[in-house]
Amino acid sequence: MKRGKSASSVKRPVAARRAPPAGRDAFRADAGRYGRTVYRACGRSGLKLPPVSLGLWHNFGDVDRAADGRRLVLRAFDLGVTHFDLANNYGPPPGSAERNFGRILKADLASHRDELIVSTKAGYRMWPGPYGEWGSRKYLLSSLDRSLERLGLECVDIFYSHRYDPETPLEETASALVQAVRSGKALYAGISNYPPGPTEAIASMMRSEGVRLLIHQMKYSMFVREPESGLFATLESGGIGGIAFSPLAQGLLTDRYRSGIPPDSRAAKPHGFLQGSEITAERLGTIGALNAVAQRRGQTLAQMAIAWVLRQPAVTSALIGASRVEQLESNLKAIEHPAFGEEELAEIDAILGS
Ligand SMILES: NC(=O)c1ccc[n+]([C@@H]2O[C@H](COP(=O)([O-])OP(=O)(O)OC[C@H]3O[C@@H](n4cnc5c(N)ncnc54)[C@H](OP(=O)(O)O)[C@@H]3O)[C@@H](O)[C@H]2O)c1
Repeated sequence: MKRGKSASSVKRPVAARRAPPAGRDAFRADAGRYGRTVYRACGRSGLKLPPVSLGLWHNFGDVDRAADGRRLVLRAFDLGVTHFDLANNYGPPPGSAERNFGRILKADLASHRDELIVSTKAGYRMWPGPYGEWGSRKYLLSSLDRSLERLGLECVDIFYSHRYDPETPLEETASALVQAVRSGKALYAGISNYPPGPTEAIASMMRSEGVRLLIHQMKYSMFVREPESGLFATLESGGIGGIAFSPLAQGLLTDRYRSGIPPDSRAAKPHGFLQGSEITAERLGTIGALNAVAQRRGQTLAQMAIAWVLRQPAVTSALIGASRVEQLESNLKAIEHPAFGEEELAEIDAILGS
């Protein structure tokens, strides 16, 4: 097996321990934070992830209140959430979520860096011209450098190719991910939104270069079930972990829209990716029927939606978003009631028409 500079020989990020800015309380992590959660192995790897991870796609840009983002991240950490997911383009503006998270890391979590799994990705448009998106070596490795600058880190824990690029030879993307790991700028590599065939192929290319494809990040929820037809089987047979993004369908699988579109919700925000047009009367009927099942289980709809994605053996972690601490606190209770009976699953399938 060829080996380059090992990650452990590269200087790990040690952000300076500093006093918090005036007017801000120093963060003291809850000593009981690891008592609530059973961490799950990410595929056939030594890395364990929390069952629920926090994504910073929305609510952490420069358009959002920094104090709210800080509260969310620190509360999540106190509740045992060790994994925070970013991408180069999260904001808006693109890059601002990494910069804002970097500030929290430096000011509050510097002494906990080794307890955190920080991931970032490159794949979508980040700068103009032919090298600002997709899967070339030129784009991926330049983008990783820029992400590290914004985050104020010398390495991330997971670096992803954010989307499958049909125009770049897969070998090139594979070797860029391998290089990211060999250089010590990422401890592990992952892919996101890849179909099953290219997933299997890139995993095998990386394996032949001595680097494991750790994880696949896929869209999966009661409303988006494509990974069930092929991808999950590929992940399980390849020992690749899975992390399901948008398990709440961006808030649809919660109480958020059951009586209209609240003005502070994602669907109401000009930069929110959830379109008001997705909230149809038919959808609301389905959501109401699912809510009745959740109530019978003694859960909120959001808790049931998270437990439902975690029932898949291929899913290591459910990657949620949150705009406020109360959502996060409530959603994390999903793990208190994870099991589904056959009849419950059949009823959910019937409601979903699948
Ligand atoms: N790889 C990719 O291509 C990709 C794509 C998309 C996302 N992701 C990752 O996945 C992460 C999660 O995505 P997501 O934010 O769409 O996930 P999600 O968990 O499906 O939706 C999160 C939103 O649901 C609402 N919500 C959450 N809990 C709630 C509760 N208890 N009650 C009422 N509303 C609640 C909030 O909306 P409000 O803001 O309206 O309160 C929150 O912002 C992202 O941050 C990102 O890291 C990856």
